[in-house]
Amino acid sequence: MPAAAAASDGAPRLPGLGEPLPYCDQSGCTYLDYNATSPIFPEVAEEMRPFLTAFGNPSSGHAFGRPCRDAVDLARRRVAAMVGAEPDEIYFTSCGTEADAWAIWGAVMAARKRHSASSSTPVVPHVVTSCIEHPAVLETLAAYEAQGLLTYMAVPVDSEGRVSAADVAAAIRDDTCLVTLMHSNNEVGSLQPVADVAAAARQRGVLVHCDAAQSIGKVPVDVQQLGVDMLTIVGHKFGAPKGVAALYIRRGVAIERLLCGGGQEGGRRAGTENVLLLAGLGKAADLVSQELPATAAHMRALRDSLQSQLLAGLPAGAARINGPSDDAQRLPNTLSIGIKGIQASALLAELSEQLAASAGAACHSGGQSVSAVLRAMGVPHEHALGTLRLSVGRHSTQRDVDRAVQLILEYARRQGVA
Ligand SMILES: Cc1ncc(COP(=O)(O)O)c(C=O)c1O
Repeated sequence: MPAAAAASDGAPRLPGLGEPLPYCDQSGCTYLDYNATSPIFPEVAEEMRPFLTAFGNPSSGHAFGRPCRDAVDLARRRVAAMVGAEPDEIYFTSCGTEADAWAIWGAVMAARKRHSASSSTPVVPHVVTSCIEHPAVLETLAAYEAQGLLTYMAVPVDSEGRVSAADVAAAIRDDTCLVTLMHSNNEVGSLQPVADVAAAARQRGVLVHCDAAQSIGKVPVDVQQLGVDMLTIVGHKFGAPKGVAALYIRRGVAIERLLCGGGQEGGRRAGTENVLLLAGLGKAADLVSQELPATAAHMRALRDSLQSQLLAGLPAGAARINGPSDDAQRLPNTLSIGIKGIQASALLAELSEQLAASAGAACHSGGQSVSAVLRAMGVPHEHALGTLRLSVGRHSTQRDVDRAVQLILEYARRQGVA
C-alpha cells in the first residue's frame, strides 16, 4: 500500500489521487470524460518507459527476450490479482472490442463444434444479452447473426437502465450457449445483476461472459464472486494506454480461438505480445488493487458535488438524472444528466475548448439521434437531447467540477433555461 500523504483538509490521501495532470487541463479544457478514456497515469507511464527501447521478443529465450517475458508475466500476475483470477486465466488482447468478440465467437464456435460431433444437422447457437450493451457486443452479435452463425435475444432494461436477472434467465433456451452481460453501462453507469444472472445460467449449463470495461477501477470486480466464465478488462478505462485489454477465461472453459497463428497466450490468442502496453496495463491493474476504495471515494465525492451543484443551479423539473436512483447501483464516477431545453451536442461543440464530456444524442444532417441506451430506458426525448455524460476519475479535482458546473449553467442560461 503506498504511504498516505496528508491533504489540506487533513484527510489521508494516496499519492497521485486527486493530483491534477498537465495533460488533463490542456489549454484550459476541463476533462470530465473518463468513461471515454482515462489519461495515462504517471506511475503507468514510468513503468512503460524502459520498454520503449527494450525490444526483445518475449518468446525468445536470449538476453533480449527475457526481460520482456518477465514484464509480460508480471503484467499477467497483476491483472489476475486485480480480478481474483489465476495468472493462467488471463489472455491479453488488442482492445476491449477484441475481447468481447472473442468471447462471443469462441463460445458460439465451441457450441457448433460440440453439436457437429454428435449430429449431422447444423446448429445455430443462441446467445442472450441486454439491449444496452456496448456496440462491441451488440454489433458483433448482429454481424454474426447476419452471417448465420448465431441468433440472439437482447433483453430490455427498466427506466433506470438495469436488466432484471429473472428476465435474462427466462430468455435462456435449450440452444443457448452464452449469456453476455455488461458489468456496468458506459453511458448511465447502471450496475447489472451479473452474479444472479451467472448463477441462473450456470444451472442451465450456459457460459457467462461479462464486459467489465467500465467497472474496473471504479467498483470491486471479482470473478469468483461474480461466478462468470469470461470477463473483459479494458486498460484505457483505468489509467493504462489505449490498445491493450484482456479476456479472463476460467480454467477449463473451452472456447475456440479468434486469432490463430503463433503459440502466444498459451496457444489461444496468437500475436507477438505488446510488451510496452502490457507493462502499462499491469501497473494500472496494480494501482487498482492498491487504491480502489480511496479512488472510488474520491470520484463519488466529486460526482456528487457535480450533481448537487447542477441540480441546485437549474430550475425545478429542468434536469433529470438518468440511471439508478439507488447510488449503490450506479458507478461512483458517472453522472448522466438530461437538461430540458438544451441540446447537449451543441453545448459540447460550443465548449469544446473548455469542457471535454459526452452527449447522449448525436447531431447529424438529418437532425438528432438519441443514444440507443437512453431510448431503451425510455428517457423523455427532450431530456435525452439535453443529456450530458460527465465522468470523473483519479486525477479529477474539485476545481474541474466547479468549472464544469459554471460552464454548463452559463450555457443553459444563454439558452433560456434558468
Ligand atoms: C462497456 C465497453 N465495452 C467495450 C468497449 C470497447 O473497448 P475498446 O475501445 O478498447 O475496444 C468500451 C469502450 O468504450 C466500453 O465502454
